[in-house]
Amino acid sequence: MERGHLPIMPTEIVEYLCASSPELVVDGTSGGGGHTSLISRAIPDGHVLAIERDPSASKKLTEKFNGTNVTVINSSYTETPGIIEENGFPQAGGALFDLGLSSIQLDTPERGFSHRTSGPLDMRFDRSQGKPASELLRGMTEKQIADAIYRYGEEGRSRVIARAIKRNSRLLTTDDLAQAVQSAVRGNPVKPLARVFQAIRILVNGELDHLEKLLSEMHLWTDSGCHVAVLTFHSLEDGMIKRHFRDSEYFRQFDPPWFLPSLAEKRNNPRARSARLRLGVRL
Ligand SMILES: C[S@@+](CC[C@H](N)C(=O)[O-])C[C@H]1O[C@@H](n2cnc3c(N)ncnc32)[C@H](O)[C@@H]1O
Repeated sequence: MERGHLPIMPTEIVEYLCASSPELVVDGTSGGGGHTSLISRAIPDGHVLAIERDPSASKKLTEKFNGTNVTVINSSYTETPGIIEENGFPQAGGALFDLGLSSIQLDTPERGFSHRTSGPLDMRFDRSQGKPASELLRGMTEKQIADAIYRYGEEGRSRVIARAIKRNSRLLTTDDLAQAVQSAVRGNPVKPLARVFQAIRILVNGELDHLEKLLSEMHLWTDSGCHVAVLTFHSLEDGMIKRHFRDSEYFRQFDPPWFLPSLAEKRNNPRARSARLRLGVRL
């Protein structure tokens, strides 16, 4: 049975986004709909636009929110300006982006996101687009793989790991990738495995390109005073959000600019351990 996804820092996020009862809140990464559901209940007279890139997650969200004040759209959050215009929505008074992948995706072996379960090496949020990880890696040089692992996974042993990956001619399953990583590192392989799988996932989905496009256009569909909350899980994306809220002519950082989950939440939800909530306000 699917274990579901626990929304991170739900109270802080809902208070921050819904305190002024906005007419429209955008949840740009609706996932299992945990935050969407709480936001929808907090603004009974308002509307939630729930965007989700993964078609199978979107299908479940559409069923879940049928007949409520939530509109579910299967797309990338980079398409928010067009979605708002096409649906005749007002400018958003709140927006949430909970970056990365959901526990539901991680716990589904056939999606290939986890080094803990056997499955095809895919890792795409939307399997109708782009190339699965196995194909992408086969087309890359050892140096390109090493650079990706270093940059997106912040893994210092990127070169030896990339060499082992290139030596593994099969590379069709999560087990093939995990074995390559394990053969390259000494000691406990859990951290390098997590970092390499994270790096390849970010690469396969072009996650930082999507984030950059989102940030460069966010002023187009947010109303003055709009509260924006972003949950980040590694330093590259966190740095991008921080610089945007600090330096953009359209946004300022909230005071305080970020929060961390409580110890109790981290104990209860392992995925919360690396999370940071960044808060910005549209000028
Ligand atoms: C961490 S989960 C969100 C969980 C959600 N907040 C909840 O409470 O259930 C991130 C979700 O964002 C989706 N996603 C990733 N990149 C996206 C993008 N560019 N546009 C829209 N959704 C995206 C993933 O498919 C995943 O379902």
